[in-house]
Amino acid sequence: TVGYLNGTFVDPERALIPIDERGHQFGDGVYEVLRVYSGRPFLPEWHFERLRRSLRAIGIENPHTDDEWMQLMNEGIRRSGEPESLVYLQVTRGIAPRGHLFPAAKPSVSMTIRAFQPAEPNPSASLLCLPDERWANVWIKTLNLLPNVIAKEIAHRAGANEALLVRSGWVTEGSSSNAWFVRDGVLWTAPANRYILGGVTRRFVLHLAQTLGLEVREQAIAVDDLGTVDEVFMTGTTTEIEPIACVKVDAAMRQALHELPADAEEVIVRAVE
Ligand code: PDD
Repeated sequence: TVGYLNGTFVDPERALIPIDERGHQFGDGVYEVLRVYSGRPFLPEWHFERLRRSLRAIGIENPHTDDEWMQLMNEGIRRSGEPESLVYLQVTRGIAPRGHLFPAAKPSVSMTIRAFQPAEPNPSASLLCLPDERWANVWIKTLNLLPNVIAKEIAHRAGANEALLVRSGWVTEGSSSNAWFVRDGVLWTAPANRYILGGVTRRFVLHLAQTLGLEVREQAIAVDDLGTVDEVFMTGTTTEIEPIACVKVDAAMRQALHELPADAEEVIVRAVE
């Protein structure tokens, strides 16, 4: 495993983040995750493009040009000696005594490169529908992943492989992947608006669909229409393209998928326990 922090390649277990680092205190930063296949990063230009958009959205200056990012990442990949790996890149607003206003700080850059093997194909992979309780700008790839982490954990404890998030009755995406449906030979996926993270893999699948002449509708599916779809699959950098055998909609949760009931807190707490 290779680590990198603000100009130096380091052992990630030994690198230290100051207490007043804004990623640490506020989640005030953005990130990217890239797959490396046979020593080469997959679709790096698209990841750097999204990184630029995320940084601009939260007012952090991009500390590197795309060429510099590429060089930095390739140096990390070379040092790792791992041809099949995962690159994690993070940029935060930097280090300053805690305060909500943006400080005049230099952005912090960190990176890890770890060996990665995708999960074995699972012919019975399943999803659990859960309310999408994230904020209204999830198109920005920010560090604030607590709702994603909780949803994944609830799904896992219920024996499902991924959460399928539902906002106001509409399926948005997974906790760390985008959701796709096939109905009557047409591909459906939620539109890349503020309510989903526009995945690089999603963009790649859209490109593949176009190449293959498949009809695509970038439209959300209603949770109540899930029974009418023929196929479901999830996409993401770590997920790749994963076929789903079963989508579970908990009867007790059904109301919460359309709106948050007064006892939503209780529902979630119970689910985590
Ligand atoms: N997650 N939606 C969400 C909420 C995600 O966190 C991710 C990726 C995706 C898929 O995006 P992409 O195809 O660009 O990986 C969709 C990364 C892998 C993560 O947080 O680990």
